[in-house]
Amino acid sequence: MTRPKIFITRFIPDPGLNLVKEHFLPDIWVQDLPPSRTELVELARGVDGLLCLLTDNIDCEVMDAIGPQLKVISNMAVGVDNVDVAAATLRGIPVGNTPGVLTDATADQTFALMLSAARRIVEADRFLKAGKWVTWHPSLLLGADFAGSTLGIIGFGRIGQAVAKRAQGFDMRVLYHSPYAKPAYGAHPVDLDTLLHESDFVSIHVPLKSETKHLVNAEFLSKMKPNAVLVNTARGGVLDQNALHHALKSNQIFAAALDVTDPEPLPMDSSLLELENCIIVPHLGSASKKTRDMMSLLAAQNLVAGLKGERLPNCVNPEVYNALSSRNSIGTM
Ligand code: DGY
Repeated sequence: MTRPKIFITRFIPDPGLNLVKEHFLPDIWVQDLPPSRTELVELARGVDGLLCLLTDNIDCEVMDAIGPQLKVISNMAVGVDNVDVAAATLRGIPVGNTPGVLTDATADQTFALMLSAARRIVEADRFLKAGKWVTWHPSLLLGADFAGSTLGIIGFGRIGQAVAKRAQGFDMRVLYHSPYAKPAYGAHPVDLDTLLHESDFVSIHVPLKSETKHLVNAEFLSKMKPNAVLVNTARGGVLDQNALHHALKSNQIFAAALDVTDPEPLPMDSSLLELENCIIVPHLGSASKKTRDMMSLLAAQNLVAGLKGERLPNCVNPEVYNALSSRNSIGTM
């Protein structure tokens, strides 16, 4: 049997890299910036396994350029909007992701951002460092309270629920909007309009799909309370940044905190960067050492399983297995 060819699109943390190396001899893109599309196609052409990151756009053209021998695409992220999963399914290629291990880190980041926006922490830090702190004043940099406020969670999967769990400790009332999710952690299911009209904090936890693209638009923002804080730790494309800029500039809502933008990185001429009431950080939801180690390990487990012809431990398109087994059974009859 010939040795499988593998391409990993960046250095990933050791736990995953070591696991892959125990089994195979991967080619690794060692630069800090991701490979361009041309470089990716060039280096991945002919590989059996691809381990990629959310910065790599793996669409049908890339899959076809890699070739029909491609057995597995393992994405080191829980979100797979950078991979054309439908195209992979059509080609019988399982796509792996890394759910669960980044739930707590992302929920923590959501709370860090929510608190920072509510209590104007970034603005206050800048104020002090600019030498503007002359005295304690009863109305200096006043923010919003958590206790007794209402938090609206849009998308009540693992991360949304972990956010609700944390909100209990802050004495918040929690509403959620999610088509099929069952209530948990004292959160109440409501329709989207009710959530927007009643929430002091709105946190986004939906994947980016055609149905959720620009879910947060001018109409959505117009339904929020004037004191409301919006937090997005999901994907930048879920939010229309022009509409958000208008809502923040005109004080239609109080503040926003974004972990993700569209595009990433956010261009330095983005009008959002002028706003004091908008915190923006560079996609750090899962950025803790332990979490990234676990993501790398899960991604490697998916890759290794796919190359060995085994079912991926975390597969976003398990229907490929039905298609494969029916193809096999047709072949053996
Ligand atoms: C993911 O895994 O989708 C996250 O966005 C990475 O932080």
